[in-house]
Amino acid sequence: MINKIGILTSGGDSPGMNAAIRSIVRTAVNNNIKVVGFLEGYLGLCKNNTIELNKKNVSNLINKGGTFLGSTRYLKFHNKNKQKLAIHNMKKKGIKALIVIGGNGTYLGANSLKKMKFPCICIPGTIDNDVVGTDYSIGYYTALETVVQSIDKIRDTSSSHKRISIVEIMGRNCGDLTLYSAIAGGCELIVIPEIKYKKQKLLKKIKRIIKKEKKHIVIAITEHICNTKKLAKYIENKTNRETRTTVLGHVQRGGSPVSYDRILASRMGFYSINNLLKKNIFGVCIGIKKNKIIHHNIKYMLKKRKKKFKKKLFYMSKKLY
Ligand code: F6P
Repeated sequence: MINKIGILTSGGDSPGMNAAIRSIVRTAVNNNIKVVGFLEGYLGLCKNNTIELNKKNVSNLINKGGTFLGSTRYLKFHNKNKQKLAIHNMKKKGIKALIVIGGNGTYLGANSLKKMKFPCICIPGTIDNDVVGTDYSIGYYTALETVVQSIDKIRDTSSSHKRISIVEIMGRNCGDLTLYSAIAGGCELIVIPEIKYKKQKLLKKIKRIIKKEKKHIVIAITEHICNTKKLAKYIENKTNRETRTTVLGHVQRGGSPVSYDRILASRMGFYSINNLLKKNIFGVCIGIKKNKIIHHNIKYMLKKRKKKFKKKLFYMSKKLY
């Protein structure tokens, strides 16, 4: 029987990671399982940087953004020697399994430990919502709220000045955060990585909207698709309408988690101990599908890599302005 586990958060932080840590620790301790937290993700795992976690030191955390364990993108963890060192450090401490909270990069790290026969469980924590095998990841809904609030504010000033506003939204290669926030924020145009982008085509659409004499035009666009500052200049030159870009940036990653994320994190944390660890199920990722917490083999997730595009939602969004 496993009596001691490790836990870490890695990659870009997301609101609700603390709530997941709290849930894991409390469920584990209630089952007489000790929990060690590794600080700053896989870096702390290699450096043996730890903190003993108990019911008390995870109190007052459920409403806090970020991750109190800290997080890094530790690329050196791809190295086999680092992975061996990590396992050595855990075994020396009597740790028998590791729970990681993070996105795709975090899952890759866990998969390499799994390949070396070290038991791991992955919990999806990222604002990008780009993890395969789960409808939502912890932090996504909070980021969505943050983006929608920003869009609302941008629309106000956009209307006052009859401007075109471009809002650049995080999400890496996944358009979920952009698509959902654009629908909720009533954006006129949506540009996401799943749909081929052509600035000339976008311009045509903008010109069509200008003809409708709308006061504002808000364009939601996922990061990395193009240089949004240059795009603003291009649109301004071609339309004669003042155009501004707002890059929302890391404001999207912070803040107190919304209730949905707190509950999702609590459910996933609980499930990781009660439904997996106690039944010796490892090498798996946790997800939520149709509001049910589920798990599947990490291999499935890594094989698929890309999340299914929400085509219907995208086409619906085009009919709504
Ligand atoms: O994965 C989360 C995320 O916020 C992405 O949306 C974004 O591309 C990236 O992290 C930014 O990373 P960093 O905080 O390392 O600049």
